[in-house]
Parts: sequence; structure tokens; C-alpha cells
Amino acid sequence: VHWTAEEKAAINSVWQKVNVEKDGHETLTRLLVVYPWTQRYFSSFGNLSNITAINGNAKVHGHGKKVLSAIGEAIHHIDDVKGFLADLSKKHARELHVDPENFKRLADVLVIVLAAKLGTAFTPQVQAAWEKFNAALVAALSHGYF
Ligand code: HEM
Repeated sequence: VHWTAEEKAAINSVWQKVNVEKDGHETLTRLLVVYPWTQRYFSSFGNLSNITAINGNAKVHGHGKKVLSAIGEAIHHIDDVKGFLADLSKKHARELHVDPENFKRLADVLVIVLAAKLGTAFTPQVQAAWEKFNAALVAALSHGYF
């Protein structure tokens, strides 16, 4: 993937405004609510039976932060996202058996959270750079399935 200086700047400008704990919690909560079948992967997290339970679940809170922190690390390795996420991809494929379609869903939910949070700063140009990063992220996480 080739990144222009403008794209890198846009992606970093978005990430500077992200709070991995708060926004991670919101992203994972939304994923589990909007796509309820994703709950099946988190059977060890306890009660996910309704929105209030999901939103108040400490493990969801902790895991949302973990996921967004990994995305932040991937941004720091933007010139080799595929290599950086190779082990994490294999883990999702071979140990966790996560359907890779769900990576795209999570990435889309994160765009909604970011758009709501950033407001007018999430310009079409910034969003385009972010969507390109999302595509690289989803491809990298899906790579270990093949
Ligand atoms: C675990 C990142 C998407 C299900 C993890 C871990 C990270 C991570 C960093 C911890 C790995 C470890 O402890 O070694 C990501 C990223 C994603 C993503 C960056 C997408 C952008 C998903 C999706 C699902 C999922 C969409 C399911 C719908 C899981 C599960 C675990 C896990 C079940 C193990 C949780 C546990 O028992 O602690 N993920 N993940 N992941 N992920 Fe993902």
C-alpha cells in the first residue's frame, strides 16, 4: 500500500483525537449490539444479553481498549500493516475462528464512532484516508486465513 504524506497526516490527525479506552468501549459495545452474532465469540465475557449489560460489562470495556490500542500500533507501522498484524491475524483465524467479515464490520462501526466524535473535522478528505487505512487493516487481519 502506498501512502501519501497527506494521507498519513490525516490518519494521524484522527488518531490523536482518539481515546482508546472510551472510544474502544463504544466501538465494541456498538458492534455487539448492532451485529449480535458477534457476541458468540465472547462467551467468556459473561452477561451480554442486552444493551445495558453489554455497555456495563467490564470485559467489553477492557477488550475495546485492547482492540483500539492494536489499531493505534498498526498506525505506527503504517508502511507494513500486514507484517505487523500477521500474528494477530493468525490468532483470529486459527485460535479464535472469527469470521473475517466481522473485521470490516468493526472497522465500519469505528468510522461511525469517529464521525460522531470528530464532527466537522472528519472531512470527506480525512474520511477517505481513514477508509483506505481501514481497508489495509481489514486486509492485513484477513491475510492469516489463507
Ligand atoms: C482478541 C484485536 C476484531 C474477536 C484480540 C486481541 C487483540 C485483538 C489485540 C488480543 C489478542 C491476544 O490477547 O493475544 C482486534 C482488532 C480487530 C479485531 C485490531 C479489528 C479491527 C475482532 C472481531 C472479533 C474479534 C471483529 C469478533 C467478532 C476476538 C476475540 C478475542 C480477540 C474473541 C479473544 C478475547 C479474549 O478472550 O480475551 N483481538 N480484534 N476480534 N478478538 Fe479481536
